[in-house]
Amino acid sequence: MTNRAHDRIRETVRKHYASIAASSNKDCACPGTSCCSAVSERLKAYASQLGYSKNDLHAVPDGSMTLGCGNPQAVAQIKKGEVVLDLGSGGGFDCFVAARQVGPKGKVIGVDMTPEMIASARENARKGGFRNVEFRLGEIEHLPVADENVDVIISNCVINLSPDKEQVYRDAFRVLKPGGRLAISDVVAIRPLPSAIRNDLRMHAGCAAGALPVKKLERILQSAGFCNITVRIREESKAFIKQWFPGSGIDNYLRSADIEGTKPKGNKE
Ligand SMILES: C[S@@+](CC[C@H](N)C(=O)[O-])C[C@H]1O[C@@H](n2cnc3c(N)ncnc32)[C@H](O)[C@@H]1O
Repeated sequence: MTNRAHDRIRETVRKHYASIAASSNKDCACPGTSCCSAVSERLKAYASQLGYSKNDLHAVPDGSMTLGCGNPQAVAQIKKGEVVLDLGSGGGFDCFVAARQVGPKGKVIGVDMTPEMIASARENARKGGFRNVEFRLGEIEHLPVADENVDVIISNCVINLSPDKEQVYRDAFRVLKPGGRLAISDVVAIRPLPSAIRNDLRMHAGCAAGALPVKKLERILQSAGFCNITVRIREESKAFIKQWFPGSGIDNYLRSADIEGTKPKGNKE
């Protein structure tokens, strides 16, 4: 793919999520009224389909949304005092859940390339009084994070959107401490995507067209340097993926998966 094609994908994705951030702010411009409760009830139902508990939902400020396809925290086993990095943090949902787990001595950093999402996440953090979470504007291919600074990288339905997934995993490896780990939820292709889906920019922005086959994903993780790689397909995700583009049949091609890997402690592990 040329640099120009990369830029076109990135621009489409950014516009798509900027408009979602703007409309979610509008939806909840009326806190405490019935329109807000309807939105938040819908989101709660979706979040529990993804695997979040009632406790997780209590941890996030009102008005936070999840646009994810799984629950990376269920596999991340985040501990008190850890530094967590969320790739493509959106409105901050996973950062707020992780903030409770790392506690006041830990830290959560969310990175997103869409200024409107960063603004919404910062506003949510302010509303919720979070002191151990910060949001940084940037691309996950070129993380605004120093080398070997992070214990755990989480991400929820984002890396499929990147036109350069090899670079995302290389940079994730760079910022992890030795022994640090990846715990990612993302869509994967369970059979080859038809070109009508692969080349549809709207489906790309909607997390359908950019999914990698499992074998290719494992190869990319390996060449980035990760060990202990696992990709676990969540069969039950078929039900909600079917609702993303009704009638398109994408649920025949995609599943959500839990993706894990570790940065070796030394040169060899
Ligand atoms: C499907 S949403 C998921 C948001 C969040 N993880 C969640 O679960 O609600 C994708 C998010 O990733 C961001 N994003 C997409 N590609 C990105 C990239 N290359 N670099 C940084 N952020 C990116 C978008 O701006 C958007 O906020």
